[in-house]
Amino acid sequence: MNWWRASQFKKSNDKYDKSSYDLELNLYSKLLKNDMLHYGYFQNPDIKPEDISIKQIEDAQVLYSQQIINQIKRKNESILDVGCGMGGLAKIINEKNLNVEVLTPNKNQIDHIQSKYPELKFYHSKFEDMNTSESYGTVIHSESLQYIDLDEAFKMVEIIINSGGQWIITDYFRINSSGINKSGHKLHDFLKKVEEYGWKITFQQDITGNVMPTLKFINMYAERFLFPLKHFAFEKLRFKNAKLFFMTKLIRDSMERKIHKEMASVDIKQFQNEKKYLLFVLEKKSN
Ligand SMILES: C[S@@+](CC[C@H](N)C(=O)[O-])C[C@H]1O[C@@H](n2cnc3c(N)ncnc32)[C@H](O)[C@@H]1O
Repeated sequence: MNWWRASQFKKSNDKYDKSSYDLELNLYSKLLKNDMLHYGYFQNPDIKPEDISIKQIEDAQVLYSQQIINQIKRKNESILDVGCGMGGLAKIINEKNLNVEVLTPNKNQIDHIQSKYPELKFYHSKFEDMNTSESYGTVIHSESLQYIDLDEAFKMVEIIINSGGQWIITDYFRINSSGINKSGHKLHDFLKKVEEYGWKITFQQDITGNVMPTLKFINMYAERFLFPLKHFAFEKLRFKNAKLFFMTKLIRDSMERKIHKEMASVDIKQFQNEKKYLLFVLEKKSN
């Protein structure tokens, strides 16, 4: 019966699209309670990970949102928050009496937003597939551009943005091609597209240092809690049920590989060598 269940599950999930149900993002949304799924912005980049509380991470996320909101100039026109996550940024924007709408392809996020922020107009769709007759004075990609093909993103923003509108982007970009974890667009490709599609960068800030404390915090937790717990659990299994321990070797090896890959994305040295976390404001060049 269980084999049958497993094969049915596998069949029905053959076409599983990560953007509609992202397990990693789902996990983060359970860990942090202010409905934001980004790295946050620490005023003091030198704060030690041992001194950081969950509350401080959440405060840093609010401060990160503030960095975005500070850039919004066209306050009488609608704002679109693309890849809005759990709706935390849009909530703050909405509280400032600005008109904000949200978009995400993720069903859990839409359900959450519908029940917690019913005042927000939402689109349940990938940005590339957005279908709307609305247009916006500001388009925001807060750590969501990395999920979207650059050409598709530039083409869609061009369709929905008002003349003279602003495109605010916060995300990490790869500054070289090496590294195990290839998430994030290459900065060089992004800057090329900015030129190609006729945009100008009106503001740019490197906030890598300000997001680092979150990475240090995650590393500290992994090293001081998760890895020792994993070791404890596997050793316990080895001594209590050696047969099961050796039978599950392949599964444990694959877990180790996955952990190795995930940890590479938050490895401080690698991040500093391979990526930059940037805040951009773009405006279309006038002809
Ligand atoms: C790291 S989260 C950031 C969430 C939110 N912007 C924030 O700052 O808290 C990435 C977001 O991008 C969304 N996303 C993934 N693929 C997307 C796509 N193709 N179009 C639009 N959003 C997408 C995810 O569902 C998620 O909401």
